[in-house]
Amino acid sequence: MNNEVAMRAKGICKGFDGKSVLEDLSVSVSHGELLAIIGPSGVGKTTLLRILNGLLEPDKGKVYFMKEPLGFEHDCDLEARRRMALLSQKPYPLMKNVWDNVAYPLRLRDQKEIDKKVSDALEHVSLLETADRKASTLSSGELQRMAFARATVFEPEILLLDEFTAHLDPYNISVLEDAVDWYLKEKNAAIVMVTHNLFQAERISSSTAFLFDGEIIERDRTEKIFNEPEDERTEAFVSGEMVF
Ligand SMILES: Nc1ncnc2c1ncn2[C@@H]1O[C@H](COP(=O)(O)OP(=O)(O)O)[C@@H](O)[C@H]1O
Ligand SMILES: [Mg+2]
Repeated sequence: MNNEVAMRAKGICKGFDGKSVLEDLSVSVSHGELLAIIGPSGVGKTTLLRILNGLLEPDKGKVYFMKEPLGFEHDCDLEARRRMALLSQKPYPLMKNVWDNVAYPLRLRDQKEIDKKVSDALEHVSLLETADRKASTLSSGELQRMAFARATVFEPEILLLDEFTAHLDPYNISVLEDAVDWYLKEKNAAIVMVTHNLFQAERISSSTAFLFDGEIIERDRTEKIFNEPEDERTEAFVSGEMVF
């Protein structure tokens, strides 16, 4: 099975209004890996995901998608961006029914076998029976499950998750976590998951990176980060002693 590096960020610096957020940060994720990014609020986790997704240009540094440098903004890399998906906390449904919402990225990409792909994607998040309903009639948990189906139906090689289960109830969290686990294994995807929920990182990620003070302080197998971290700041954060 291919477990090469799918995406790499190298020497990333990014600041806003003269205030530095990311400083010379490097990170990579491989096929078949679910990398959790943990760290205090405001440390730059969302900023990093937006840079990886090609939405935000770093001040310095480069992002490589399948070994090729990723273009930003004017030089926007549509081809690469069509092979990744970013799922954030708040879904943005189209004013259509559930089926059309999930079919939309397939139509955009001119993909074949739309019916089969949409029904498979809906089935994986237990939403097949809602296919004809307007997206606006779904509960917040169902809406996020629909957003997951829409983000994965076209089989992106890279999936970026930004606090994707924040504010959801345990049932919806578990349906979504199972769907992520299935997608990781079935498609050998490369997944980067930003979460402030340490239990979630421990439950489903294979590796974890602790982002603090603009850089990745420590990155290792998830089990190692949570049980035997090398850096005292990582230890303070995973044990809940870091005040922020
Ligand atoms: N577009 C922006 N303009 C100005 N400041 C921003 C912008 N985006 C993020 N920031 C600032 O950058 C810092 C990191 O934000 P963010 O990446 O959202 O953190 P996290 O996701 O770790 O909570 C915060 O101080 C935030 O206010
Ligand atoms: Mg964030």
